[in-house]
Amino acid sequence: MDAIELLESQHREVEALFRKCEKANGEAKRQLFEKIADALAVHAAIEEKHFYPATRGARSEDLLQEAVEDHLAMKRIIADLLEMDPAEAQFDAKIKMLQDLVERHVQEEEGSLFGRARRLLSEDELFDLSVVMEDLAAELKAGGSPRDSVPGETGEAAPLQ
Ligand SMILES: [Fe+2]
Repeated sequence: MDAIELLESQHREVEALFRKCEKANGEAKRQLFEKIADALAVHAAIEEKHFYPATRGARSEDLLQEAVEDHLAMKRIIADLLEMDPAEAQFDAKIKMLQDLVERHVQEEEGSLFGRARRLLSEDELFDLSVVMEDLAAELKAGGSPRDSVPGETGEAAPLQ
């Protein structure tokens, strides 16, 4: 799997979790949300630390800045949701906001960034990038709950390296 295929597979995974979460209730809903939060925490980290810096030439600074601002917005909603009970009235509304943000993120990346990144980087570069991205993902997942780092990342957008 190359770097873009890896990110696309993570997008599909999160979309599927959102669909399941919509139909769940109580403890099952909480567990599905936690899986979404873990998946998005890992996804945001590998994009910010590896994919965005490597594909910097594929888009303008403005678009890159928008991407990390989108991640920040997602992290803030995730941090709110982590403190809520799924039975609370606002829980579903916040999940929906998160889902909308993720949808927008996916459309922007798959609609334009990934195509440009594929033209910018060679197959070998995309493969090497996937290796470092998978390493970081494994490292974050080894801790058990990658979502735990999200509340500490809600102050400002991740720096552009
Ligand atoms: Fe993404």
